[in-house]
Amino acid sequence: MTTTERRLDTAELTERVKGMYQEVALHPEHEFHFETGRPLAERLGYPAADLDAIPAAAIDSFAGVGFFLDLAAIAPGEVVLDLGSGSGTDSFLAALAVGEGGSVIGIDMTAEQLAKATDLAADSGIANVEFREGQIEEPPVEPGSIDCVISNGVINLSPDKPAVFAVAAVALRPGGRLAIADIVSAKQLPAGVTCDASLWAACIGGAMQRDLYVKTIEAAGFEILELRENERYRFISDRADSATQKYGVVSLSLLARRRQEGSR
Ligand SMILES: C[S@@+](CC[C@H](N)C(=O)[O-])C[C@H]1O[C@@H](n2cnc3c(N)ncnc32)[C@H](O)[C@@H]1O
Repeated sequence: MTTTERRLDTAELTERVKGMYQEVALHPEHEFHFETGRPLAERLGYPAADLDAIPAAAIDSFAGVGFFLDLAAIAPGEVVLDLGSGSGTDSFLAALAVGEGGSVIGIDMTAEQLAKATDLAADSGIANVEFREGQIEEPPVEPGSIDCVISNGVINLSPDKPAVFAVAAVALRPGGRLAIADIVSAKQLPAGVTCDASLWAACIGGAMQRDLYVKTIEAAGFEILELRENERYRFISDRADSATQKYGVVSLSLLARRRQEGSR
């Protein structure tokens, strides 16, 4: 098959992504193309005291790519939507920030991640967070009901990123925030990388070219307020590392605001 004939099989991709993150939920001690767990979270900038306040087993399966909760600046009473909540690290931290008067909805498509996060919330008595099964391209939430959409290391995994940013804008109230960490690339990735479901599931193959990523967010109705590179994030397998070096694959954290109707 020639390069131009290669196509990403999205059904296969979804199964590979679910398979990989099922393993992250059930066996976080296994080796992946990427780091997981508390040492990663602390190196990315998550304050140790905050991590101490949430279930340790959630952090064992943490597979985020950057710290962004300082940008999110979640306030008491807010409603937060976590796209691709995994085993729940960011959702639990958001639940602490919103307090009893607020709430957090985590969305994920991998049953084992959802089950783990849901059990941990129940066991720890964290009542203001709920984990729902769903696709980040079609999150099961009321339009205009969310103050802040968060997401960590997930949107790169979607074959339809414009749809994810569009539905995030619809879910947010006007003026609501989008605060995320994600993987992008300096150069457009070639089909040999984007059509490799294993590299895609490892958060590399789906990386969108950085300028296009920013334009896609803006086109969905957001104004970007802050953007920074997470230099402390790295991939660990040789294969992943060589693709990241060659194509300038990096982690970004960013904050954007949904534009009010009629504003530019
Ligand atoms: C890299 S992990 C990050 C999990 C979590 N945000 C964290 O920081 O630990 C990606 C998560 O996104 C979920 N995911 C990937 N693509 C998805 C999609 N299209 N819809 C819903 N969940 C998705 C996976 O099941 C997995 O739990």
